[in-house]
Amino acid sequence: MTNPRQRAHPIDPLFTERWSPRAFTEEAIATAELMSLLEAARWAPSAYNVQPWRFIYAHRDTAAWQPIFDSLVEFNQMWTKRAAALVVIASAREAVFPGAAAPAPNASHAFDAGAAWASLAFQAQLSGWSAHAMAGFDAAKLRAAIGLPEAYAIDTVVAVGRKGDPAVLPEGIRARELPSDRRPLSQTAFEGTMR
Ligand SMILES: Cc1cc2nc3c(=O)[nH]c(=O)nc-3n(C[C@H](O)[C@H](O)[C@H](O)COP(=O)(O)O)c2cc1C
Repeated sequence: MTNPRQRAHPIDPLFTERWSPRAFTEEAIATAELMSLLEAARWAPSAYNVQPWRFIYAHRDTAAWQPIFDSLVEFNQMWTKRAAALVVIASAREAVFPGAAAPAPNASHAFDAGAAWASLAFQAQLSGWSAHAMAGFDAAKLRAAIGLPEAYAIDTVVAVGRKGDPAVLPEGIRARELPSDRRPLSQTAFEGTMR
């Protein structure tokens, strides 16, 4: 099969080689290796450098894993059970901006947390690991499980693991275990106006 990821303009292969697998090997990740991924995420840019992101992580086969895992929808549990770690990415809804004394709503908290997720995912790719973000979880259950105050939004849960053999997956999702394509840049980028 031809790889759908054809670069239309020159870019580092990192950007097309990263994709989100569901087949993991069950290999554990050392804390130091996981910290490298979170370290990359920590260096993401953010509005006024307020760094709204917070990372709540758990290794598989530890007490912290189960409550996070239990908050995932059944579909995500089916494949994350072989991941090495789960990382909840949350972000502070408010920030104290320069020159202000009191916290104010931060319109870009989720945008900035997204930058942190992307940094984590690209560092995972560079380090021989894979990361797969998920929106499929019960937010109230997860919030209670990790003791997250209402002042923080839950942005995503990321499964981290070593990419494995698609054969471990149930037939239905095995066929989807491939890098996906993207809309052409001509339908995505517009000079000056979208009209
Ligand atoms: C915020 C976010 C939420 C996602 N939620 C899920 C999810 O709940 N379950 C899942 O299997 N994949 C989920 N994905 C994976 C996307 O489907 C995937 O990133 C997208 O199809 C692009 O594929 P790629 O990451 O392999 O390039 C999510 C991705 C993001 C960024």
